[in-house]
Amino acid sequence: MAKKLFIRTYGCQMNVYDSARMADVLAPLGYGATERVEEADMVILNTCHIREHAEDKVFSELGRLRLLKEDRSGRGGLIIAVAGCVAQAEGEEILTRAPYVDIVLGPQTYHRLPEMVAQASRAGSRVLETDFPAEPKFDHLPAPSAQGPAAFLSVQEGCDKFCSFCVVPYTRGAEYSRSVSAVLAEAKGLADQGVREITLLGQNVNGYHGEGPGGEGWGLGRLIGALAEVPGIERIRYTTSHPRDMSDDLIAAHRDIPQLMPFLHLPVQSGSDRVLARMNRQHTADDYRRLIGRLRDAQPDIALSSDFIVGFPGESDADFAATLALISDIGFAQAYSFKYSPRPGTPAAAMDDQVDETRKEERLAAVQDLIGRQAVAFNQACVGRSFDVLLDRPGRHPGQLIGRSPYMQSVFVTAPETMLNTVQRLQVIGAHPNSLAATLLERRACA
Ligand code: 5AD
Ligand code: SF4
Repeated sequence: MAKKLFIRTYGCQMNVYDSARMADVLAPLGYGATERVEEADMVILNTCHIREHAEDKVFSELGRLRLLKEDRSGRGGLIIAVAGCVAQAEGEEILTRAPYVDIVLGPQTYHRLPEMVAQASRAGSRVLETDFPAEPKFDHLPAPSAQGPAAFLSVQEGCDKFCSFCVVPYTRGAEYSRSVSAVLAEAKGLADQGVREITLLGQNVNGYHGEGPGGEGWGLGRLIGALAEVPGIERIRYTTSHPRDMSDDLIAAHRDIPQLMPFLHLPVQSGSDRVLARMNRQHTADDYRRLIGRLRDAQPDIALSSDFIVGFPGESDADFAATLALISDIGFAQAYSFKYSPRPGTPAAAMDDQVDETRKEERLAAVQDLIGRQAVAFNQACVGRSFDVLLDRPGRHPGQLIGRSPYMQSVFVTAPETMLNTVQRLQVIGAHPNSLAATLLERRACA
């Protein structure tokens, strides 16, 4: 009988990609996806360790799963697996705190899931797999199955930057880039399944330096150029990037490659040079301003997104004012902001001038207010413009489709169902805080 797999994904897009690949790995064992945890034979929590809040959610979810498992005892049971970055960082602790968890696996080991499931199915066996294996997991994974016209493609993993607040270099390990041929093969496979838009993923994706066909190193700009030649791939994005790795080639790609969407998520974290130095970001606020200037020269339509941390240790009122000033200077289409969360084992957690919670709350509210106003202004400025939109899902009302604009806004349009999964030229006629309304401009051949 077919077995059911329920995966809950926390955190970043890399985890979304990993969850899909774990489902692909388990499919040959007879596991099909379910959206209902109550009917699952196996549950995977794919976890995030980036901030404390993300980790707390995992332990409360595990509490609920424990009840479900107790309810199932004697009726085929339930395999509970914890994957991702909390598993990597806290593997032993999970096994101790949650004795009903069967499998704990780090992000580098999920190609071995079938063996782990076999081992866990033997009564009394529990599995902990958090090594960084010598052989990269990508060499052992089946070709991914596409779900819709937009897909993620992981090209790089890990990080060597060691920002002083961040756990990623510890949970995801050293930087690793997949080879150009592996990336192109995966992109072709996705295009053959109808994928039109790919988002290249990596913790430090613009640090990509994969091996090219002749053994030479390729940067991300060159890789994007080759991907743009893959028939069927109409749109390309990449995330997440570090300002230090925005090479000339990559900036030129924004000018020269029409398939590369004019939208860039480029975290800066703070606008204060003192804080940036203590964060070990290795650039100043003005370096960032100049970089954005060069990107805008190369591609005047480019819109920016970023990440900000407020309340980093030692952040003064003046430091925080510098962050607000940077946001005002740049003008973001959207951005994410977070209260600094001390992560065990990172240098910033040991700094002795931690900012108190109330101040963090106030600063977060102020940043979010400013970013929110910029996002609304950006959406309003889109009214009257025409965009190519990938119509990737039906709307709530009959006759309506929803798509994603070049800037990742949701766009609603009245359009025939035959246009689902195609890119269409739309004119924006209205702006809402989180979406746009549009009409069809011209009809393109439907695939
Ligand atoms: N506290 C708060 N935010 C953090 N981020 C990473 N580590 C922390 C931390 N310890 C944020 C950064 C990063 C995003 C993915 O998460 O802004 O860019
Ligand atoms: Fe973390 Fe990004 Fe800094 Fe790497 S570059 S340490 S992933 S914040």
